[in-house]
Amino acid sequence: MKDYDVIIIGGGAAGLFCAFTAGQRGQSVLVLDSSNKVGKKILMSGGGRCNFTNLDTTPENFLSNNPHFCISALNRYNQWQFIDLVERHEIPYHEKSHGELFCDNSSKDILKMLLDECAAVGVVIETKSIIHQIEVGEEGGFTLSVGENPFKCRSLVVASGGLSIPSLGASGFGYDIAEQFGLNLLPRTAGLVPFTFSDWVKDISETNSGLSVDVEMSVNDMSFRENLLFTHRGISGPAALQLSSYWKPGQFISVNLLPDQNTEALLLEFKKANPKSLLRTLLAPLLSKGLVQSLESIYWATYADTAIAEIPNGVLQYIADTLNNWQLKPSGTEGYRTAEVTLCGVDTDHISSKTMECKTQPGLYFVGEVLDVTGHLGGYNFQWAWASGYAAGCYV
Ligand code: FDA
Repeated sequence: MKDYDVIIIGGGAAGLFCAFTAGQRGQSVLVLDSSNKVGKKILMSGGGRCNFTNLDTTPENFLSNNPHFCISALNRYNQWQFIDLVERHEIPYHEKSHGELFCDNSSKDILKMLLDECAAVGVVIETKSIIHQIEVGEEGGFTLSVGENPFKCRSLVVASGGLSIPSLGASGFGYDIAEQFGLNLLPRTAGLVPFTFSDWVKDISETNSGLSVDVEMSVNDMSFRENLLFTHRGISGPAALQLSSYWKPGQFISVNLLPDQNTEALLLEFKKANPKSLLRTLLAPLLSKGLVQSLESIYWATYADTAIAEIPNGVLQYIADTLNNWQLKPSGTEGYRTAEVTLCGVDTDHISSKTMECKTQPGLYFVGEVLDVTGHLGGYNFQWAWASGYAAGCYV
């Protein structure tokens, strides 16, 4: 039986970070991953360029049933410390927008950095490792049955991630372990995920597929000012993805298609300045011809060929309200197949916010996305993975 100080289940962002942090403290560390390769989500992330952190990371960028839980770890390992690590590895990067930092070249640079750090302190990584059983030893510690090989460890770290994108190795194993040890699981759903529609919005989306519009989207008192992307099945793009983490099935979402305009005043101005023009001609430069035509066919079809001077002000006001507060009712989301993250997960009530250790099972730790901490889009989820991995790595 091979014996390690620390075994980490999952060689993703949080697991690898935890592994070398523990290794730097002289711990012997084994990372077990069920996939054929570690760090698959890192490689896929940020369109292949890994949005590895965000300059503006604050606890307000995270969702959790306990919003205070993430504060300690985020303070102890912050975005500046990760940037420092990236710079020490001479990885070129840039800020795209909204404080989002991406690799200039490839996500491979970030994975290589983590693996180099692991190698420097002798972390052992085993892929294609299927864990059948976890038992608590009589004198503490844990025994893991992995194929024919039993492994022993003093500390066990669950870093197996969430449920999104099963083809990248996602599994519910971390939640099964939490249940085995009697921890509460908060109901999980897909987050940072495109919305789908079964009504007329689906037709608009299909017709305008590929079009990106700068909007403000809101639901449940949360608003995001970013781009909305129409797709064949519904809406995506940063604004929709952000909002999906706050949306509950059955709710309407509000889209302000002209967030910088007092649209009613604008339409009245159009009426004065261009009385003979059609509304669609005037709106097309602001919203694209195709989208304006789609909206016209639903909201002002009777006035489609009427000069704006002939459209009553009350109708213009109604159109303005619609453009500033377009109400859409998603039928659902694309689900875990395309979601970037899993909302909720292991209830943080059971976990120390300082060490990530389970309060009821000494030696058992949970880090990363498996926990009920979910970041906004923009590098926050990786920052949580680094910070929570670091927190546990300092104590295991
Ligand atoms: P992660 O998913 O990284 O790792 C879990 C590991 O556990 C995997 O290696 C998996 O194979 C392994 N595993 C699963 N089940 C197991 C089992 N039974 N036994 C052993 N191992 C097991 N975030 C961000 O901040 N910026 C970005 O640019 C992106 N981009 C992005 C793109 C895409 C397509 C996705 C799906 C997600 C993102 N994210 C992101 C989110 C980010 O990838 C995610 O939040 C972190 O990878 C979570 O880190 P973890 O280490 O917790 O899980």
